[in-house]
Amino acid sequence: MADVVQFIDVDRPALVLAPMEGITDAPMRALQGATGAFSFAVSEFIRVSTHPIPTKVYRRDVPELNQGGRTPTGMLVQVQILGGDPERMAASAINACQAGAGAIDINFGCPAKTVNRNDGGATLLKYPHRIREIVRAVRQAVPSGVPISAKLRLGWDRIDEIHENAAMAVEGGASWITIHARTRVQGYLPPVFWEPIAEVRRDLPVPVVANGDIWNLDDFHRCREATGCRHFMIGRGALANPMLARQIAGELGIGCADSDLTPWADRNWPTLLGDLEAWMDRCHGPAPVKTLLRLKQWLKLAATFGTFSHFAQVKAAQSIDEFYLLLSESVAQSDLPALVAAD
Ligand SMILES: Cc1cc2nc3c(=O)[nH]c(=O)nc-3n(C[C@H](O)[C@H](O)[C@H](O)COP(=O)(O)O)c2cc1C
Repeated sequence: MADVVQFIDVDRPALVLAPMEGITDAPMRALQGATGAFSFAVSEFIRVSTHPIPTKVYRRDVPELNQGGRTPTGMLVQVQILGGDPERMAASAINACQAGAGAIDINFGCPAKTVNRNDGGATLLKYPHRIREIVRAVRQAVPSGVPISAKLRLGWDRIDEIHENAAMAVEGGASWITIHARTRVQGYLPPVFWEPIAEVRRDLPVPVVANGDIWNLDDFHRCREATGCRHFMIGRGALANPMLARQIAGELGIGCADSDLTPWADRNWPTLLGDLEAWMDRCHGPAPVKTLLRLKQWLKLAATFGTFSHFAQVKAAQSIDEFYLLLSESVAQSDLPALVAAD
């Protein structure tokens, strides 16, 4: 049975891989797990609508549950659920535990319009008492050894809403909370507001995980300074700068043993993309069209938010072979170093 400490220990710093629907699926989690840098990952959200989520859906969407709740590269995975109905959320949480979940996170931050229209994600930030009810229902439904956490944004449209919402999540029984440092109205637009996280951290008796716009080591230092947190979650930055997680883990003094399967220090863009392709084949069987989309998706993110400067050369590729050919040509042309580290 998992316990809180296995995921977040108040005395031990943690680095968490953010849930990103359509991006951090099982193949990407396996790949990121090979960094050896993450304390654990949170699964993409699984939405609870008219019926509780059955165990088979968890086993399909979070296949790590079939392997002791860890990626094949050894990283723990927490299951995230999303919805506004306490009873169905509780029933879904019970099924998640039956499927093997060792910890459950509740999503109170998703800004997608369809999700919000259907009473899920960030819309609940407008109703603090409902956050408490949902967390409480889930907390009471699952075994006491399974920690429940809540992932919040600062508010719907005001950053000070976080105080009441976070307090309600804790009253409901959340063992820790994660705060994405912007409101629903802000979407993903800068700036982030890390400062309110510091106030919440000081006020609440549970660990607080700081999240939002940590793109490089300098951002990490500034976020740590502003929030005073010991626990951090990174999402887009981990993909845009594949060395970032190891750099942060090094600063936090955690993790970082190279996985036997894929030694991270030897990776460069072509080998990393090859890793993702291999994990996709292994998790889902060969699906070249989908794989090509995912390879391009990653490089587009790295070009938009990181230092990768060759997306224009590869985006027109029609096949995986052509993709690697174009990539190797651009790599050769500019003598692309291995992964570009921030420092
Ligand atoms: C494409 C995408 C999908 C996301 N999916 C989820 C999700 O399933 N659950 C969730 O709680 N947050 C989700 N998020 C939010 C991230 O977990 C994270 O809070 C946000 O990206 C800010 O962190 P970052 O700046 O390190 O990326 C998603 C973000 C993006 C960009």
